[in-house]
Amino acid sequence: MDIKAPEGKLGVLIPGLGAVSTTFIAGVDAIINGHSAPIGSVTQMATIRLGKRTENRSPKIKEFVPLAELQDLVFGAWDIFEDDGYQAATRAQVLTPQDLERARPILETVKPMKAVFDKEYVKNLDGVHKKAAPNKMLLAEMLMADIKSFRKTNNTTREVMIWCASTEVYIEPSDIHSTLDKFEAAMLANDPLIAPSMIYAYAALKSGVPFLMGAPNLAIDVPAIQELAMAEGLPIAGKDFKTGQTLMKTILAPGLKSRMLGVEGWFSTNILGNRDGEVLDDPGSFKSKEVSKKGALDYILQPDTYPDLYKDLYHKVRINYYPPRGDAKEGWDNIDIFGWMGYKMQIKVDFLCRDSILAAPIVLDLVLFADLALRHKMRGIQEWLSFYFKAPIVGPGLYPEHDIFIQLTKLKNTLRWMMGEELITHVGHEYYDSYE
Ligand SMILES: NC(=O)c1ccc[n+]([C@@H]2O[C@H](COP(=O)([O-])OP(=O)(O)OC[C@H]3O[C@@H](n4cnc5c(N)ncnc54)[C@H](O)[C@@H]3O)[C@@H](O)[C@H]2O)c1
Repeated sequence: MDIKAPEGKLGVLIPGLGAVSTTFIAGVDAIINGHSAPIGSVTQMATIRLGKRTENRSPKIKEFVPLAELQDLVFGAWDIFEDDGYQAATRAQVLTPQDLERARPILETVKPMKAVFDKEYVKNLDGVHKKAAPNKMLLAEMLMADIKSFRKTNNTTREVMIWCASTEVYIEPSDIHSTLDKFEAAMLANDPLIAPSMIYAYAALKSGVPFLMGAPNLAIDVPAIQELAMAEGLPIAGKDFKTGQTLMKTILAPGLKSRMLGVEGWFSTNILGNRDGEVLDDPGSFKSKEVSKKGALDYILQPDTYPDLYKDLYHKVRINYYPPRGDAKEGWDNIDIFGWMGYKMQIKVDFLCRDSILAAPIVLDLVLFADLALRHKMRGIQEWLSFYFKAPIVGPGLYPEHDIFIQLTKLKNTLRWMMGEELITHVGHEYYDSYE
């Protein structure tokens, strides 16, 4: 095994001190203090089978791979609002007053640093707690100085940056994103196609910090950032946390396909009233989310391979900003399916979920696994973390795997591979050899 032990403090650097990040921090604190079990966290709760079924070896993942301890996490954040973690969590209205008060001491210690922000990228939001500099390279350098000072103040031995800030408007990769040289020249020239999230990713990687993208923003999918991650020997993964409706979609669709049932239409609509919903009310930000949400079905159902079942699939996704609901989103799916002899059936899903409650354990797992990958010297795109994302980023020429069950198998096999354990194929013929 060639994995450095997780010694010392692990810094969790978070652009965006909003609903998701404060719920994550409060939850970690509740777990450490024994007020809650780490529900929803694969790193903390799931087991992993090793060797043959007859060996009865199924340790918890956290006992199998050397992960950082929750006590060793320290948090830092950037936001365009000056509110500390407690004020931000109060505003987000995810947690009960009792949970909020319990987490108050830790949340109050998280005071956001000034953000790199561009209103052109998030139209429905503005704040005053922002950095200003003549060009985007200088903004990146200011972020790097923040990271350096965070490291010094908190005495961290390593850090992971995870984007929990708003969804930016949809942009496509262009020539300036194609190589690191062009990207750096564009930063110096203040090119409008360099988004704030790209500046954070650049600053993280230049500081030796892995970067994870929780929103559907175009940042680490561009070749320039991937080139930088490879050059610096650092892991990156994204994008867009897989929670709520897409989680349900990637659980249901593989099941329907596994039985060769046809799908004619899949209509998904949501109401949500948190700040994320307000940002997504802008068509540019919605487009980023829509593209990220829509990819999953095509990749899972493979209409080109199964034209009789899926070629006419009509897939529509709607997100409606509806303030009364706050973070308690409601997602409806109407799925028109067909079976034997073409007979039609319908499935209705009404998921009354809580966005940040579903996202927080994903943040925890991603941070711990990215740190593990860092210590295992794994660099570039970490496809094995696709399990956590709506729109998994993969290497050139590869298609993303969206099926959550294949993603989980891949994740666990990667852990076995890291630790030098036998990979599990599920063939299992050896159990029956004695019949011959
Ligand atoms: N909750 C989920 O289930 C879920 C799932 C997938 C993706 N996401 C994404 O995660 C992100 C966070 O979600 P949330 O509900 O916490 O949103 P939120 O609006 O509560 O928090 C986002 C915070 O980011 C800040 N911000 C915006 N731009 C910034 C910048 N450039 N630098 C620093 N701070 C900035 C905002 O001021 C806000 O405080 C969103 O992009 C959302 O789309 C959430």
